[in-house]
Amino acid sequence: MKRAFSGVQPSGVLHLGNYFGAIKRFTDFQDEYDCYYCIVDLHAITVYQDPKELPRLINDTALYYLAAGLDPEKSTLFVQSDVPCHAELSWMLECVATFGELSRMTQFKEKSKGNESFSSGLFTYPVLMAADILLYDADVVPVGEDQKQHVELCRNVAQRFNSRYGETFKIPEAIIPKFGARIKSLQDPEKKMSKSDPNPLGYISLSDSKDEIVNKVRRAVTDSGREIVYSPEDKPAIANLITIYSLCTGLEFSEIEREFEGRGYADFKQALADAIIEALAPIHEKYRRYAESGMVATILKQGAAKANEVSSQVLKRAKQRMGLSLLADPVGRKLR
Ligand code: TYM
Repeated sequence: MKRAFSGVQPSGVLHLGNYFGAIKRFTDFQDEYDCYYCIVDLHAITVYQDPKELPRLINDTALYYLAAGLDPEKSTLFVQSDVPCHAELSWMLECVATFGELSRMTQFKEKSKGNESFSSGLFTYPVLMAADILLYDADVVPVGEDQKQHVELCRNVAQRFNSRYGETFKIPEAIIPKFGARIKSLQDPEKKMSKSDPNPLGYISLSDSKDEIVNKVRRAVTDSGREIVYSPEDKPAIANLITIYSLCTGLEFSEIEREFEGRGYADFKQALADAIIEALAPIHEKYRRYAESGMVATILKQGAAKANEVSSQVLKRAKQRMGLSLLADPVGRKLR
C-alpha cells in the first residue's frame, strides 16, 4: 500500500478552507493509502502560543480530524512533538537546505513582512515540514494550494540529500484538489481564507454557530451585477461563493448557475448559508460524540507509538547515510 502524509497546525481556528482543501480529503485517502496524519504543534510554536491554551487546541484539532471522518483503525493520527525524530531529521535537513531557497518561500515572506523579530523557526519551518513527510516514505501529500511550494522544497531537499549521500528518501508528490485548493476570504476574494485573518468575517470556522454562518455569508462581499455565474476573472467573489456551495452540495457549477438563474445575490446567499450549515451539522455531531467518549488521548498515544516505530527506521537510515553516530549500523545497509 502506498503512503499518504499530511499535517494541520493546532493554531486555534479550523475553517472551511482547511476542511475542503485538506481534512475532508484526508478521509478519501484512507482506503487506498496507508495514511499518517499529524497535528503539527512544533510548527504552531513558530509564533507564540499560550502554553495553557495549546493542549486544548491540540485536542480540538484531533477532534476535528475525527469528526471529519478520519478512522483511527485505518489511519495513524498523532502529535508531532510526541515523535522526536521530526525535530532531529529537521536539523539534519537544515544542513542540506539553503538559505537562498528558504528565503524564496512566499509564506515566509508574507508572514515576516514588517516584523523584524520573527522567530528563526518561522524561517526554517518548511524544513521541518520536509522532515515530517520524508520520515514516512510518503508517496503523496494531500494539501491545499498554499502548501505546494513547501512540498516542492521538500522534493528538492530530498533529491539533493539523495545525490549527496546516496539513495535515502522517497520523493513525494503533492496532491492538490481541482476545486477548493484555495478557498478565498469572504471579505477579500484576492486573499485566501486564513485563520490569521484579523477580521473573523473573512472565514467560516468549523465551530461557528448557525447564526454566525448566516451573518458571515450575508455580509460576504459580492461583485457588481446580480447574476450568479462562475467567472473567477470577472466575478472572483461570486466564483468563491459558488465553489463553496458546490463543495457543500456536490452540485456542478453549471447546475448551480441554472438553479439561480434570474434570482439575485440575496437568494443565493440564503441557500449558501443553509448548505454550509447542513454540511457542518454531521461534523458538529461527531465532534461532540468523540469529545464525550474521551477516546482522543488513547488514539493519539497509539498513533504516536506507530509513528515512532516507522520514523525511527527512516531516521536511522538517514543518519547512516550522513555518517552520523558510531552507534548507527554500518553504512550501506540495504534499504527496505
Ligand atoms: P495549515 O495548518 O495552515 O493548513 C492545513 C491544511 O489546510 C489547507 N488550507 C487551505 N486549503 C484551501 N483553501 C484555504 N484557504 C486553505 N487554508 C489552508 C492547507 O493547504 C493545508 O493542507 N505547513 C502546513 C502543515 C504541515 C504539513 C506538513 C502539511 C506541517 N507539516 C507535512 C503537509 C505535510 C500548514 O501550516 O497547514
